[in-house]
Amino acid sequence: MRIVAKGLTYTYNPKSPFPSQALKGVDLTIEEGEFFGIIGHTGSGKSTFVQHLNALIKVTGGELRIGGIGDAGYDLADKKCNFLELRSKVGMVFQYPEYQLFAETVEKDVAFGLKNFRRDIKDEKEIAAHVKEALETVGLNYAAVKDCSPFELSGGQKRRVAIAGVIVTKPEILILDEPAAGLDPLGKQELMELLHSIHGGWCKTIVIVSHDMDEIAENCTRAAVFSEGKVVMEGKPAEIFRRGEELLSLGLDVPTTARCAMLLKERGIRIDTDFTCDDFAEKVLALYAEGKAGKEGGDAQ
Ligand SMILES: Nc1ncnc2c1ncn2[C@@H]1O[C@H](COP(=O)(O)OP(=O)(O)O)[C@@H](O)[C@H]1O
Ligand SMILES: [Mg+2]
Repeated sequence: MRIVAKGLTYTYNPKSPFPSQALKGVDLTIEEGEFFGIIGHTGSGKSTFVQHLNALIKVTGGELRIGGIGDAGYDLADKKCNFLELRSKVGMVFQYPEYQLFAETVEKDVAFGLKNFRRDIKDEKEIAAHVKEALETVGLNYAAVKDCSPFELSGGQKRRVAIAGVIVTKPEILILDEPAAGLDPLGKQELMELLHSIHGGWCKTIVIVSHDMDEIAENCTRAAVFSEGKVVMEGKPAEIFRRGEELLSLGLDVPTTARCAMLLKERGIRIDTDFTCDDFAEKVLALYAEGKAGKEGGDAQ
């Protein structure tokens, strides 16, 4: 299912003396099959936008469609939209989702997500099978953790349980708001591997919100940059990070590879990279092999 937002606007506390316009006309299309990144500094509207995608926030201005028109899709601006069904197909992992674990056991917590959105599944054995599959997908041993209290687990394990509670419905679109925030480097890497392992199977499209530009450069098919409630850049990570100066002027970071490319450019060495580490190293090695490193380049004086 393709996601299409047109002129999407949203204001918090519209009738209060202090309204806060979080979205000021977002136009964005995310195709089925993408691993899409959403970037932008704090307060740019990223969370407000993604919460619209599974109707946690209802559309109050503009258009938002997921999938085709009619049976095959959802018009989220339509009050008659089947929001329950939509939420089983568009899963949402909040920022720091582990804070929302609440049940006595891991098994009950994950089963809650299923019972909530897939009311057609009632058989306890069937529920247990789904829970087991979800926990194993996130790399946890079902037998070892199912009867634990979620609160006994480590931070990384808690986050996995929270993610299991969302993917237990096998959503076709999975949205994650800052999924790697607060994890150590190994935890981040494992999380990205997990997302890639489900992407392309039952989970067709992944949308991540991230502050980490390296994460976007390494993992995403395309990305959009939010600023002040609007999309100000959109494209493949390579296209976005080629505009590094603009990103820096928006107060955003650039991937480490882009920083290196900028430093080299100042020395007259151009690296035409897609900003993944592998590609960057390849391009540097190619220049080195040609004996060009340090000798030629567009800006050399
Ligand atoms: N619950 C809320 N009540 C009032 N204003 C809010 C609320 N949530 C977000 N905002 C405001 O909306 C704007 C966008 O916030 P948000 O979507 O959370 O941005 P981001 O996720 O990019 O940091 C900010 O100005 C923020 O202060
Ligand atoms: Mg946010």
